[in-house]
Amino acid sequence: MGNSMVDWIKRDLKHNWHPYTQMKDCGEFPPILIEKARGVKLFDNKGNFYYDTISSWWCNVHGHNHPRIKKAIKIQLDRLEHVLFAGFTHKGVILLAEKLVSIAPKNLTRVFFSDNGSTAVETALKMSFQYWKNIGKKKKTKFVSFEDGYHGDTVGAMSVGGVDPFNKIFSPLVFSSFKAASPYCYRCPEGKEKTTCNIECIKSLEAILKAGHRGIAAVILEPMIMAAGGMIIYPAEYLKKAAALAKKYNVHLILDEVATGFGRTGKMFASEHARVEPDFMCLSKGLTAGYLPMGATLTTEKVYQAFYADYGKGKTFFHGHTFTANPIAASAALASLAVFKEENTLRKIKTLMPIFHKGLAKLKNLSIVGDVRCIGMIGAVELVKNKQTRKPFGLNERIGLKIYKEGLKRNIILRPLGNVIYLYLPLCIKEYELKFILAQTSCSLQSAGI
Ligand SMILES: Cc1ncc(COP(=O)(O)O)c(C=O)c1O
Repeated sequence: MGNSMVDWIKRDLKHNWHPYTQMKDCGEFPPILIEKARGVKLFDNKGNFYYDTISSWWCNVHGHNHPRIKKAIKIQLDRLEHVLFAGFTHKGVILLAEKLVSIAPKNLTRVFFSDNGSTAVETALKMSFQYWKNIGKKKKTKFVSFEDGYHGDTVGAMSVGGVDPFNKIFSPLVFSSFKAASPYCYRCPEGKEKTTCNIECIKSLEAILKAGHRGIAAVILEPMIMAAGGMIIYPAEYLKKAAALAKKYNVHLILDEVATGFGRTGKMFASEHARVEPDFMCLSKGLTAGYLPMGATLTTEKVYQAFYADYGKGKTFFHGHTFTANPIAASAALASLAVFKEENTLRKIKTLMPIFHKGLAKLKNLSIVGDVRCIGMIGAVELVKNKQTRKPFGLNERIGLKIYKEGLKRNIILRPLGNVIYLYLPLCIKEYELKFILAQTSCSLQSAGI
């Protein structure tokens, strides 16, 4: 077999089944063979480069091939690649738990490791569920989630997901959960505009909690931005109110920071925008700077103590994953947190954020752009067929795909989420790179031919 691009792609498509991909499309749009990556650039085997404008599915933080993270991984590999985390432990994960607790909201003191975002969410759901059983409130078994929320693709995580195109077909499989209206400002469930809004959309969550709190274990929410649901950025005030309601009605607040954690929104954790203290915080993606899979669910001493009992009393948390607390992943996570400090990452992006937000705001003038929204180093545009009526493009029009193709021609990745095109930038991005990406995004939107 030769070494040409075509041969490798043929071989890929012979056996590999790609995620979130209609494989029939791969005839026309074959996957791109990436050979190496440096900083924010991916290089294919033909010598083309692409800015990793979506941080390789929102996980890359400090850029690819970072010497500090690579070195930590190599050192760890020579010491210990993996050991089970029941009955055994290792220094890396001890240090990492200490570090996470030191930067997380103050009430979170306990860390349960797993191996991806979905498992971090499953852990929180199951812990919350069992917590209420362990303290004798057996009726608190239900969850409240959001119409546009997304928490992963395992069955429990899908049960609290609301993104219909992903989950609808699996609806007979999932457990039922209450669905609150999303704080979707551009398509406000209360018919308000940002200028006249008084967070009336909280009513939906409040009504559910008021009526059902005796049977509700937890509310699960992505703080500040519902990412996979369409990069729906909402006011910190909503998050504050949601947290206050959870407290008032004695239900847990699970904040899913899988996509938002580790600087994405301009703060280490998105919950900091509203200064809320959740009962559970789910982490993954940027936890290892996107180098290796790892998940973590942080919780409170109160939750932990409800499980702390003599063996055989039915209070043990029977949950775990083979690669829980993997030492190599832990070494990457520790190195990533060190890089945050050494490179002043959060301070650096503060100066880039206004350039980013201003540049993106200009796209509002384009005829197909209905809404522009940004937070931290995440920005999105919602495409509409008609600016006045806000009518969306139909699925079959595949507007996102057209723009994606235009983006690739211009060295950027504009992977669509329905009618939303977004940038989810690695935090190490430089000003000139940012400006290039903004200019190319604008050209791609204009060239999509509408
Ligand atoms: C908010 C949120 N939670 C959970 C997940 C699931 O993470 P994973 O794909 O690692 O299972 C995702 C993935 O995009 C996410 O955005």
